[in-house]
Amino acid sequence: MMAGAAAAALLVIFLAAVSGEAGPALPRFAEAPQYRNGEGCPAPSGAGVCDPGLVHIAMTLDAHYLRGSMAAIYSLLKHASCPESLSFHFLAAATSAPPDDADDDLPALRRALAASFPSLRFQIYPFRAASVTGLISASVRAALEAPLNYARNHLADLLPPCVPRAIYLDSDVLAADDVRRLWETRLPAAAVVAAPEYCHANFSRYFTPAFWSDPELGARVFAGRRRPPCYFNTGVMVVDLRRWRAGNYRRRIERWMEIQKEKRIYELGSLPPFLLVFAGEVEAVDLRWNQHGLGGDNVHGSCRPLHDGPVSLMHWSGKGKPWDRLDAGRPCPLDHTWKSYDLYIPGDGSGAASPASGPAALSASW
Ligand SMILES: *[C@@H]1O[C@H](CO)[C@@H](O)[C@H](O)[C@H]1NC(C)=O
Repeated sequence: MMAGAAAAALLVIFLAAVSGEAGPALPRFAEAPQYRNGEGCPAPSGAGVCDPGLVHIAMTLDAHYLRGSMAAIYSLLKHASCPESLSFHFLAAATSAPPDDADDDLPALRRALAASFPSLRFQIYPFRAASVTGLISASVRAALEAPLNYARNHLADLLPPCVPRAIYLDSDVLAADDVRRLWETRLPAAAVVAAPEYCHANFSRYFTPAFWSDPELGARVFAGRRRPPCYFNTGVMVVDLRRWRAGNYRRRIERWMEIQKEKRIYELGSLPPFLLVFAGEVEAVDLRWNQHGLGGDNVHGSCRPLHDGPVSLMHWSGKGKPWDRLDAGRPCPLDHTWKSYDLYIPGDGSGAASPASGPAALSASW
């Protein structure tokens, strides 16, 4: 605790020292190596973000997790056969309301992305926490209550209507394969979301005994679904945005968040409402696309190995983040893989102060 407080104080001093007058300072990042489309990639149609040849990737973006986002973007570009066809949609935490948005990180985040990835195709969408704070209930880990965790519920509202589908990714992932393979997941007519499913996980424990014993809730909620309900992780999802809009799925998720305010039906943050709406309805994606849990559990963040089988995407879900463990000099074996995508340039004389850590860290996952 003392070490944590000291580190937090150091961080404040560090940020104050590098902070100019133009809004909050961000950490510095190196420019990523250049990337180009290979042979056989779709030719640009001139339709901008509506170009049908694009692969759309949505992620949250904020100062605290920027280091993770940078590594994730770099890994996606590096392993893509058509990197110039990747179109990024960043949902960024906006603190103040327009037009008085001088305190926002948005212009600085935009500059940081453009500096590290000069030809990146991206848009930033301000996500205002006020749109969800009234719906958020206390959870088992403070970071899971951060409003930006709920931004994924708003994808279909924020992205342009011509974008038919998006891959949502958490900021603590690394791609090890061409993301176009995930993009080309077939979604049968009944499915709105595709994600790796974990049917061996004990589904009951994601909800409270009060939920299971409530005569209106419990197993009744999942009756009549396409398949038996299974746990899936919302950190890697393929979302059909048109079907999402047509079915008003944000509202369906928010209804569960309202019920949670009245009766405590779950303990985690943004995940259980997704399970309540989609478990048993999601289209299963190969587990290789979410080798999750590398951040350890929600309490200690201990080291975890990869699961058996092939790896297309690594996910540091859980409490421990590779950048924090590397900075603390206690990396887990797999954190060295993450390190090879780290673009962060440590600040002068403050090697231990990771700008990406701290109690306010957002966009966390399980
Ligand atoms: C699953 O979890 C529930 C609630 O925690 C528990 O009562 C049940 O015994 C567990 N089932 C199995 C098969 O472990």
